[in-house]
Amino acid sequence: MPRDGRSVGERHRGGVIKTENINHEFLDAVLDGSQVDVYYHFGVASDDPILDRLRGVRAIIMAGSGDRIKEFAERWSAMSGDPHIVAFPKEDRFVTRYTGGVLFCSHGMGMPSASIAVQELMRMAYFLKRGDLVALDDVFWARVGTSGGVGLPGGTIVVSEAGVMPDLQPYRLMQGGLGTYWFDGGFPAQTRADILAANADSDLSIVEGKTIATNEFFLEQFRLDGAIRLETAQTKQEFLEWLHANGVRNIEMEGAMLAAYLNSWGFSSFAMICAVLLNRLEGDQVTATSEELHRFSEYSGDVLFAYLQQRLLSS
Ligand code: URA
Repeated sequence: MPRDGRSVGERHRGGVIKTENINHEFLDAVLDGSQVDVYYHFGVASDDPILDRLRGVRAIIMAGSGDRIKEFAERWSAMSGDPHIVAFPKEDRFVTRYTGGVLFCSHGMGMPSASIAVQELMRMAYFLKRGDLVALDDVFWARVGTSGGVGLPGGTIVVSEAGVMPDLQPYRLMQGGLGTYWFDGGFPAQTRADILAANADSDLSIVEGKTIATNEFFLEQFRLDGAIRLETAQTKQEFLEWLHANGVRNIEMEGAMLAAYLNSWGFSSFAMICAVLLNRLEGDQVTATSEELHRFSEYSGDVLFAYLQQRLLSS
């Protein structure tokens, strides 16, 4: 188990599903039918016939809000020409839609919530692909979200190079007395390049950079407008400038965990595409109008769909 804290990207090999990190004891029992897997937060189980309709999944797209998932699925249904949209029955935690070979799922806010969605989706993907590692690795994963920009104006799109925590180190978990389990936060370079190429004709401002994921919207993002305040205008400015000098271009709340978990199985193709809602060097409050916010988040959808179209529809 990696406990060494090597820097982000060093452990990212890409292209090879690392079978030693798959929980074979549990997941292979699901495949041979001796164990039913209950994807509790999605309200479905591995013996539910609804999953047979998802066997052809080629991409799993996540976003924070359920309404965005419904919009994305409608849009992809029209683009892919698949009139059928499958919905899981339970929606009180995560909203899920499947159409045209793409599974769209909401993940809520923050890494504790999103980690539940990601773990259950990885289990589900393994089941849907019947443990075939080549088919599994052909699945593209993405989070499409919103973020605070570091030196970037609202409306900019950031394609993440790496997802790190606010200390610029990758995601890690405390394991009681056993120490700290470190993950790799790199996002695959080839996927980023393909996303940029698919959007080469776009008028949008699209940049690459590191993204930090925090466990708190106010304090860990050095906001001065929380109910509790720990920072001064000066320490906030110093923090944001330090982030910028180290290549960070945006701040959100899920990417470090997402990269960590997908890297732990060695998926070769995954990305995070976030719209910037505000430039944190200029303020803390999200003051954009609801029309502007909707437009900004549409931009990240535009970048995603240009790539999905090329990857899934042009062959
Ligand atoms: N999401 C965040 O986590 N932070 C922001 O500033 C904006 C969106």
